[in-house]
Amino acid sequence: MGTEALVHLADERVDHRFKGLPPDAEGLTVGELAAQRRNLFTGGFTTPVLALSAERLEHNLTLMETYAARHGLAFAPHGKTSMAPQLFHRQIEHGAWGITLAMPHQVRVAREFGIQRVFLANELLDPAALRWVADQLAADADFRFICYVDSVRGVELMDAALTGTARPVDVVVELAAGEGARTGVRTEAECAAVADAVAATTTLRLVGVAGYEGEVPQPDPDRVRAWLRRLVALAVDLDMAGRFAGCDEIVVSAGGSAWFDAVADVFTEIPELSATVLKLLRSGAYVSHDDGHYRRITPFTRIPEEGVLEPAFRLWAQVVSRPSPEQAFVNAGKRDAAYDLDLPFAQVVRRDGEERPATGVSVTALSDQHAWLRTTPEADVEVGDWIGLGLSHPCTSFDKWQLIPVAEADGTVVDYIRTFF
Ligand SMILES: Cc1ncc(COP(=O)(O)O)c(C=O)c1O
Repeated sequence: MGTEALVHLADERVDHRFKGLPPDAEGLTVGELAAQRRNLFTGGFTTPVLALSAERLEHNLTLMETYAARHGLAFAPHGKTSMAPQLFHRQIEHGAWGITLAMPHQVRVAREFGIQRVFLANELLDPAALRWVADQLAADADFRFICYVDSVRGVELMDAALTGTARPVDVVVELAAGEGARTGVRTEAECAAVADAVAATTTLRLVGVAGYEGEVPQPDPDRVRAWLRRLVALAVDLDMAGRFAGCDEIVVSAGGSAWFDAVADVFTEIPELSATVLKLLRSGAYVSHDDGHYRRITPFTRIPEEGVLEPAFRLWAQVVSRPSPEQAFVNAGKRDAAYDLDLPFAQVVRRDGEERPATGVSVTALSDQHAWLRTTPEADVEVGDWIGLGLSHPCTSFDKWQLIPVAEADGTVVDYIRTFF
């Protein structure tokens, strides 16, 4: 199990399951295909094909490692973004404490691939899933698992499911990001009641507090910071009330990819508590970053002196129809590209090995298997051209691809990333 499973990914056969990969690679293992170092543009790949930039991926991994270290934050990148164990391990090699996940199925994937610390940023009430977690904890003394609680009833359901299990499950109280926000306890008084309910069990252990500032209603720097201060104050109050007694570490966790600058600032205000504080940041989208939503909202626009993330995805599609001077159609659609936050962006046109900016080309709609392109008179687009599309929203880009080539700037494919959604 674990890193062995990771190594075995290279033994998987390349076949019809993986769109975009060269048909003449059928039957090779992924490792054999990677060793051939084929070129993305000349090596027999078929469109549409989503590629990750090797250099940009490494840049993003390094940048957030450096950022977290500089600000004294432990890092549990959200794994639901990529669901790629190879990337989980690279994140850990780049200093991550562990991996954040949202669903028990995702924890099973992480465990299969040897992840030893999991922060489940969600409530977990399913008795079968809880028993599986308890079995994992019983079987592996080094497995660290933490999940959310946000109601007394939830605590009771967890307790009932876990009765008789060997190790208590560590939980953090989730503070909601505001009235009308997503999950999480609305008031500090209710948080205390949930903490009391946890203390009344032997199956659960309260180890901290958490929440997601990305859900603060009408977020702006002041509102986000105000909420983060509430989260810190909650940790302090619960600690003063002795609710973390016996913990050798108190967890305070927040932070996606939109407000980690605010998290870093406000978490410096955490006073000394009765145990060491694990300040856990959970950004996930940073790993590939993007050309739309996250490019607009990244904190690095506010703190350019700390670096800049690079969009690492490019979706390559071919112009299959050019029925009028204003219209062109490429063979990538909703099955291939994220479209929940923005449509893809036409970035470059490739013809005969030459690449140039996609001037005058824009994506106006997606069908299941086509993108609709509008072209102005200055656009130079012909049937057969490849169009490089930038994407918006990493989470809904990764999940459309099961095996993603990782290409260097000259197109040499050096690796393949397997996803498990
Ligand atoms: C609870 C929680 N934490 C962390 C994240 C990661 O945020 P991002 O996707 O902006 O990196 C998410 C994303 O939805 C989330 O729901």
